[in-house]
Amino acid sequence: MSTTIEHVLKTIFQPYKGILAADERPSSMDRRLQEYGIADGDAMRSRYREILFSTPNLERTISGVILSEDTFAQHTVGDVLTRDFLRELGIAVGVKVDGGLESYAGSDTLQKTKGLAGLDDRCKQYREQGAGFTKWRSAIPVVGATDDFITTVATDMATYAYHALQNDLVPIIEPELLLRGDHTVEATAETFTRVLPAVLAALAEKKCNPQQCILKTSFITDGLTDGVLSADETAKRTLAVFRETKLDGNKGFYGIVFLSGGLESKTAIAYIQRIKALAEQEAFKTPLSFSYARALQEPVLLEWKGEETNVLNAQLAFTQTLQHAIKKYKGIEEAPRCGA
Ligand code: 13P
Repeated sequence: MSTTIEHVLKTIFQPYKGILAADERPSSMDRRLQEYGIADGDAMRSRYREILFSTPNLERTISGVILSEDTFAQHTVGDVLTRDFLRELGIAVGVKVDGGLESYAGSDTLQKTKGLAGLDDRCKQYREQGAGFTKWRSAIPVVGATDDFITTVATDMATYAYHALQNDLVPIIEPELLLRGDHTVEATAETFTRVLPAVLAALAEKKCNPQQCILKTSFITDGLTDGVLSADETAKRTLAVFRETKLDGNKGFYGIVFLSGGLESKTAIAYIQRIKALAEQEAFKTPLSFSYARALQEPVLLEWKGEETNVLNAQLAFTQTLQHAIKKYKGIEEAPRCGA
């Protein structure tokens, strides 16, 4: 393993730290601001990100930040490029290099990730500009993902990982199982057990060592429509499926991080707290952490409301959310279900 890859992996998986996903494309970020009744546009997106990144002591709880390509290239905090500002805090900087989704083979429901064209050159440039890692997201429905689709998605993810590794960048591989819908936890587990071996086989085919890669995954839980499983149940199910797919040990990924996938902030935080505690109790060896966008940002947007007078409160809400996210929850939850 190159010393750069090793250094980035160790930086990201420091105990009591996680990843902030701040890699929304401009159009997605504008939609997010609108959802919270905040004016959109370049200046507001830029100010919002500046508030996030300049939160005091960010580096005490955040070990990596994922940026979109435009933020990585241009955005500043004060007059310092964001990528340099974060690196000076000791935070690893990553870039989302996929190009979003397009219909798969004319399907109405399946979508494939774009972005392999020119990827090698982009990775090279990002590495030269100080990126330590990259991310590639695929979106996989729990119900209706055909074998052909899974193979295609896995092959493209492995091709992406190959280019990242060739350029000394740690690849985050994100086969996101979409949580929206009314599917059961059993269905989520079943789809995961089809996707994961396909991803590992595609990596092996490209001679990419998963020990140099990070898996970013959804929790193994129910679809969001009918309420969500308790943190205890989700943690147990997720670790059981990880064991079944041989993700614990030196043949799996270096580490695993979770996305929040539309779960409410408090639910996503309870899940990561519980899963970390259970992993420790059960001696699950692969490092686990969070890589949340919405679950970390929801409390900030609620406090900020687009007003300068609310900036300090928004940063306080962010800090408190991060502090919760890094704590382990050791108690057993009694309630079988929470939320709706
Ligand atoms: P959420 O935590 O909002 O699901 O986003 C994580 C992410 O990076 C999605 O690709």
